[in-house]
Amino acid sequence: ERHNHRHVWTPEKFRKTMPGRKRNAHKGNHGRGLVVGGNVEMPGSIAMTVSAALRTGAGLVTAATAKDIIPTVSSYCTEATYLTLNDTDGYLDGSNAIPFENFDAMVLGMGLGRHLEAGELVQQAIEAQLPLIVDADGLYHLKAMLHQVKQRKEPVVLTPHPGEMAMLLGISVPELLQSPFSYTKSFAENYHVYVVLKGMFTIITTPEGIQTVSEAGNQGLAKGGTGDVLSGITLAMLMQEQTVPDALNNACFVHGKSAELLTETNHSVYDLTASDVITGIKAVYRTFQ
Ligand code: APR
Ligand code: MG
Repeated sequence: ERHNHRHVWTPEKFRKTMPGRKRNAHKGNHGRGLVVGGNVEMPGSIAMTVSAALRTGAGLVTAATAKDIIPTVSSYCTEATYLTLNDTDGYLDGSNAIPFENFDAMVLGMGLGRHLEAGELVQQAIEAQLPLIVDADGLYHLKAMLHQVKQRKEPVVLTPHPGEMAMLLGISVPELLQSPFSYTKSFAENYHVYVVLKGMFTIITTPEGIQTVSEAGNQGLAKGGTGDVLSGITLAMLMQEQTVPDALNNACFVHGKSAELLTETNHSVYDLTASDVITGIKAVYRTFQ
């Protein structure tokens, strides 16, 4: 399917829809975000999500993760706060009661693991009353809970790459890539979710089936961790006062433009890392705000 006749998000749209920060703002005005994930084999995943959310403008970010992962996250990102979750051998288990009511939005799934017990955390998150972003392993668990997602009142945002989207749809990646717009549209409409289908171009679909395309970014982003960074940016955007579709489009814009500006200046598409993309967020704001 061709995308060039579809609506593409522009810098003008970003400027117009990004809310300002008032001179008298305090941290509570810009959202308290919760990030749930991480395991001993992927301690960096949640660290990057948390750091990206703070760089994007979230007021407060709490990392809910296993005890042994907290030192990694806190040394990477000193501004976060923590919720220690129970784990079994470094993988989060289902015996946790998270105080969801203390947060304005949450993201779940990076480095979560595919073990059965982690599914209980996903189940709790679906039942909680706050906007929810599900990424990575969270999507794996969510597949069995899609019928419940439909009943949820607060927005649900899924951020799959093509492999994860194909898994959710129960089709192959080549099949999905033949008609990504129509597969994603029916999925979003059926389950009443927002879908950010990532790739060289990213397709953003609302539960009403409205679709936009983000062309921002380049092949420097084809590296582990850049998806975790997008999740954090998305969390922060969802908590700023803008509509959900605008927040998702702006998140993809900031993520992609960060990579573009970095590779136009002191990086190349070879050396760019996910952490660099977080560092590059400031240039996007300074250039386009
Ligand atoms: N051009 C533009 N953007 C790109 C390109 C490209 N060529 N390649 C990747 N991107 C962007 C995507 O649009 C998305 O925003 O980089 C991000 C990659 O996200 P993910 O695919 O979720 O990557 P990530 O989770 O960080 O790392 C890969 O996914 O398959 C799993 O377990 C696997 O660890 C692996 C992980
Ligand atoms: Mg990913």
